[in-house]
Amino acid sequence: MSRVRTALRTAPAVETSDPFAADVIAGLAGKPKRLPPKYFYDAAGSALFESITRLPEYYPTRSELALLGAHAAAIAALFPPGCALIEFGSGSSRKARILLGAAASVGAYIPVDICGEFLQQDAAQLRRDFPHLTIRPVVADFSTLTELPPEIAAPPRVGLFPGSTIGNLEPHEAAQFLRRVGVMLGAGSLFVVGVDLVKSPDILYRAYNDAAGVTARFNLNLLARINRELGADFDLAAFEHHAFYNGERNRIEMHLASTRRQKVRVCDATIEFRAGETIHTENSYKYSVDSFQALAQGSGWSPLAVWSDGLFSVHALRRTDDR
Ligand code: AVJ
Repeated sequence: MSRVRTALRTAPAVETSDPFAADVIAGLAGKPKRLPPKYFYDAAGSALFESITRLPEYYPTRSELALLGAHAAAIAALFPPGCALIEFGSGSSRKARILLGAAASVGAYIPVDICGEFLQQDAAQLRRDFPHLTIRPVVADFSTLTELPPEIAAPPRVGLFPGSTIGNLEPHEAAQFLRRVGVMLGAGSLFVVGVDLVKSPDILYRAYNDAAGVTARFNLNLLARINRELGADFDLAAFEHHAFYNGERNRIEMHLASTRRQKVRVCDATIEFRAGETIHTENSYKYSVDSFQALAQGSGWSPLAVWSDGLFSVHALRRTDDR
């Protein structure tokens, strides 16, 4: 791993070979301060996210599970025979299980997740539940994954990207990602993508500001993780969860706001906060069915079908070059 040198305004340059440390230092040295949302998902954060998916206010998971359940046969009918199913950011594989149960034509399942602990537990259970399937988990950041395991060297392949995780990306990054997945999955491939829809700001606000405070704990866990893994001294009581809908950009923004003027030590650097200054931790872009189909079409994918309940949408896309 190459050494990374990051210049800080508030401290001498810090040298590190740890990508997490490098991203944290670079993000906190930025103006405005930001942290990449992929770092939410350590073991504690992945468990908190599972709790979020069960909150009454957090409709996306329930909507998507219901859509997949209701249309599993129609979705599975689009799968090429003998295909491998590759899921990006699989978490607990709840969504894939629904499709695997309906698609006898799938030969292999490749869950890709950044959290290895979750992935291994889940793979063991999947092997018991689907004994005929080849299960080959890959611990990786799906946003930088370019190669698939050799067991599934041959197409056809079906990609699954549920949960509106694509909403974490800027629209131009989402377009790049769609294009890259098309290249990686190859000829004849299909892509099933879950996309949260633009809707009443009230519903969106509540989904990211739950009464039980689980989303706040999920957001603050990022600072707890930096303390745990990088020996930083963030005072979690001095930061607040802020989430709001930015209607101009069609996105929920999550921030951690400093409740006072303070200094934090992170990896030999001193980070200064003004009272009220925030760290931008996540964007969650929302699309209309049409705007997502246009994005996909501009990125090498032809819309085949879409299922929606008005809150959430599940898109089936076919590689454009293959028609
Ligand atoms: C996993 C990125 C889809 O944006 O809704 C949930 C993450 N953040 N509550 C989302 C999340 C706060 C989630 N995604």
